[in-house]
Amino acid sequence: MSELLRVENLSAGYDEAVVLNDISLTLAEGETLALLGRNGTGKTTLMDTLAGATRQHGGQIFLAGKPLHTLASFQRAEAGIGWVPQERCIFKSLTVHENLTAVAQAVRADRGAHAAWTPERVYELFPRLAERKTNLGTQLSGGEQQMLAVGRALVLNPRLLLLDEPLEGLAPIIVQELLRAIARITREEGLSAIIVEQHPQAILAISHQAVVLDQGRVVHQGPAQTLASQPQLLDQLLGVARA
Ligand SMILES: Nc1ncnc2c1ncn2[C@@H]1O[C@H](COP(=O)(O)OP(=O)(O)OP(=O)(O)O)[C@@H](O)[C@H]1O
Ligand SMILES: [Mg+2]
Repeated sequence: MSELLRVENLSAGYDEAVVLNDISLTLAEGETLALLGRNGTGKTTLMDTLAGATRQHGGQIFLAGKPLHTLASFQRAEAGIGWVPQERCIFKSLTVHENLTAVAQAVRADRGAHAAWTPERVYELFPRLAERKTNLGTQLSGGEQQMLAVGRALVLNPRLLLLDEPLEGLAPIIVQELLRAIARITREEGLSAIIVEQHPQAILAISHQAVVLDQGRVVHQGPAQTLASQPQLLDQLLGVARA
């Protein structure tokens, strides 16, 4: 399987502060990586650094062999980074449909074997959004906002989807809906993804690789299945006390 993402000796942070230290990882085309770690260990900083929204202090990032670290954030989106930030960041004053079409001019359908995502396909993936096409962003529940944020990233037809805690704060039934949709996008449609999650079992179950961060460094890296089958190791890595 060909390599999609290569991160080499990456260090990054905010202004002079260095949050990430010497991060190296690779991800193959079509694979999903679960990015785990306690609060404040640098998961969001890593996602934001891939998207070009932090200060990079050192190292390199390549997407399909092309350097990303030299590109501005909007150029990384053009290059195929689909970023769904932790704050969701939808346009609240626009309707659901406007959110999905405002970015559609930039759609690139030429991203390899992946079928082009359109607003219609997003509605098919998230029927709740289809029912709320004309609702404003402000009128959506947290789960619907998350679905819209994912849909907005998809219509840009990314090569790599970055999902930062997509299940955070959502009701269990919505969590199940989103998990099914994410599994469909990644496992069935073969879109590569990095998914940050603090409650990892559900994400490990649909991921190929797992990386655990602690204090801005990689402290574990390997197949997701291996980590999922070792709950004690997982708890230890995530600093969860066992009763
Ligand atoms: N905008 C910022 N400016 C300065 N420091 C920041 C900024 N954002 C985060 N940090 C610091 O960087 C470190 C890593 O934070 P980050 O948000 O990447 O962690 P995280 O693993 O995503 O945490 P969480 O699980 O709470 O989302 C923390 O020490 C945090 O205080
Ligand atoms: Mg975070």
